[in-house]
Amino acid sequence: MTCTSARTWLDIAPSPTRIMSIPPLPANTSLKGLSFLITGATAGLGYSTALLALQLGASPVYITARNAAKGTKTLESLLADPVVKAKNPNAKVEIYDLDMARWESVLAFGDKFVKDREAKGERLDIAVLNAGIAGVTWEQAPTGNEMMVQVNHLSTALLSLLLLPLLEKSTTPEHTARLTIVSSGMHLQRWGKLKQCPPANVNYLQTLNDKSRFDGLQRYGVSKMLVIFFVRYLAARISPDKVIVNNVCPGVVKTSINDRMPLWTWPILWMMGRGSNTPENGARAYIYGAAVVGKESQGQWYSCSKLRAYSDFVLSKEGEKMQEKEWKETMEVLEKVRPGVSNVVS
Ligand SMILES: NC(=O)c1ccc[n+]([C@@H]2O[C@H](COP(=O)([O-])OP(=O)(O)OC[C@H]3O[C@@H](n4cnc5c(N)ncnc54)[C@H](OP(=O)(O)O)[C@@H]3O)[C@@H](O)[C@H]2O)c1
Repeated sequence: MTCTSARTWLDIAPSPTRIMSIPPLPANTSLKGLSFLITGATAGLGYSTALLALQLGASPVYITARNAAKGTKTLESLLADPVVKAKNPNAKVEIYDLDMARWESVLAFGDKFVKDREAKGERLDIAVLNAGIAGVTWEQAPTGNEMMVQVNHLSTALLSLLLLPLLEKSTTPEHTARLTIVSSGMHLQRWGKLKQCPPANVNYLQTLNDKSRFDGLQRYGVSKMLVIFFVRYLAARISPDKVIVNNVCPGVVKTSINDRMPLWTWPILWMMGRGSNTPENGARAYIYGAAVVGKESQGQWYSCSKLRAYSDFVLSKEGEKMQEKEWKETMEVLEKVRPGVSNVVS
């Protein structure tokens, strides 16, 4: 969750001076006239990003929640914000149900969301796929996949592909539609066992569903590395004139993401969290990636609103091989869930 280039648990526990601050957005940043989707908006970075988008003039803002009551509370709180009331008084916020742990929910959300836009003649100008989890203990999603891989990577990939045709149609001469996915500096971790692309006869994605090989501390970073491979592969095949695809990390941000962590991790988390950014600041890093940088950001990673190099492994020859491999393995999974879904990418 750090955006430093440090590579071990101790190394990544940043001293306050190593925490990256997130600069203010350019003064002319405006989302006026743009629609904005953010997944996982009931808390943390998702909530603060929905709020900032509204404060910057976006409307409609579409948010997702797993729990209807929490979704309604979120919507009320967003619209009650005094800055939103003053600067964006006619703002519309719509809530959608989305649980990324279940394929049925991702498909239902994706299909309904697209149909609703078509029915209302609305574009989707900016999509920020933020919903994600962290953990160090084994958990299996109802899909059978390990939970972090399911929520952070597989469902995010499926949702991206479901939204892509709508995003492409939403590009206008004035605004290129955007897909910004939230990854993490944790993909920089050096303690991971992965130094080489696994051999062709090994389905790496499937090995991640083997409980006996669950790699606790590493898994969150691995799930975000898969996100990065996905973004890079996708972005290389889509013209930034059609949809700008990039990914962001907000640095270390104090949110409820660590609430599921066991007691023994707390000292490490405490060290990592010292001087961490607030969700309000983190939201700026999201808006930077989704609205400030332009076509030059295709396939790039912005950490704390700065262009950063991916990990050495991602950039290596082996990483390139792995990127191809993970695309194929991911598409094999997604094709079973929604046949033909990978055809949106040529
Ligand atoms: N915090 C950091 O330091 C940090 C650093 C780098 C990257 N990130 C990334 O930033 C994103 C947001 O994290 P956060 O720190 O804001 O965490 P958070 O406070 O725990 O918020 C996570 C959001 O995702 C939603 N969510 C969780 N599981 C979901 C699922 N199965 N389906 C749909 N929505 C789900 C949560 O909804 P509920 O309210 O229903 O739980 C919540 O709205 C994540 O992708 C995370 O990996 C965080």
